[in-house]
Amino acid sequence: MAYDLPQRPRRNRSSAAVRGLVRETHLTPGHLIYPLFVLDGASRREPITSMPGIDRVTEDHALREVEEAMNLGVSSFVLFPAVDDALKDASATYGLSRDNFYLRLARAIKDRFPEAWLMSDVAMDPYSSDGHDGVVKEGQIVNDLTLPILADMAVVQAEAGFDSIGPSDMMDGRVAVIREALDAAGHTDTAILSYTAKYASAYYGPFRDALESAPKHGDKKTYQMDPANRREALREAELDMAEGADMLMVKPALCYLDVILALKEFSDRPIAAYNVSGEYAMLKAAAEKGWIDYDKAMPEMLLSIHRAGADVILTYFAKEYAQLYRSWHG
Ligand code: PBG
Repeated sequence: MAYDLPQRPRRNRSSAAVRGLVRETHLTPGHLIYPLFVLDGASRREPITSMPGIDRVTEDHALREVEEAMNLGVSSFVLFPAVDDALKDASATYGLSRDNFYLRLARAIKDRFPEAWLMSDVAMDPYSSDGHDGVVKEGQIVNDLTLPILADMAVVQAEAGFDSIGPSDMMDGRVAVIREALDAAGHTDTAILSYTAKYASAYYGPFRDALESAPKHGDKKTYQMDPANRREALREAELDMAEGADMLMVKPALCYLDVILALKEFSDRPIAAYNVSGEYAMLKAAAEKGWIDYDKAMPEMLLSIHRAGADVILTYFAKEYAQLYRSWHG
């Protein structure tokens, strides 16, 4: 017996062929940016305990990582420096030094792989003895003392050959001062991918382990956004667009899919999302315990971020996703 059901959505799911025909979202390795944690020196790989499968690497290994990823179709990278404590100070001097290892390494990657798209991180925290993204004075993070440091950092990074600057600091007005400084120095072709809506999130824990960059006192709530707020992300987006950002990013991704969608509808710029270290760690931990089917859960996670509206995804899964993608498509 059959019910009188003229609407049967299951007809469009009845075979792999028809599912392929009506599939709305396709995530290729070309949409991914692979983050690399880099170290000074040579021939070293240091595992990061809270991020199984991700290591801090020296230049030689970094070049190999880039080559492997590019062979799999991932040609975009973001670099984060793990800096020796002895080189950190209150004004992030090492980050501005033209011969620091981070800039040297970027140059080496661009020399060897000119077709790779390379993004920097602009913020004081990897170089700061305070572990904050801005200048600390009497326990306060001082916005306007930080801006010129960020602008100088962006200029030396552009000189090193980065294709895009990635301000991750959440100071007010930083996109404008960075754009102005880049243009004044002749780097009109260097893009800015702004961390537009970056939330004060617990999901950055493993990243701070990787760089030993946790704040020495207090937290980042006076500059990173309150996880409770969505509309405030639109204000940040409006400012970043007016100040000249080429792409807007939401960070983290999973708990903020609604914010990704809101920015996608609000803005004509490409939207990026950062699938952060804690999101990576959660899935890896569950997989290690055998509690989740990693090869299915991982692509589902990335697909959901793309479906929500992220054109571009920064993810530690990039290489593994590209490997899976190859196994599906031959
Ligand atoms: C710092 C920065 C952070 C991340 C990227 N840039 C951490 C923080 O704000 O404390 C986090 C990335 C991740 O968790 O994967 N400027």
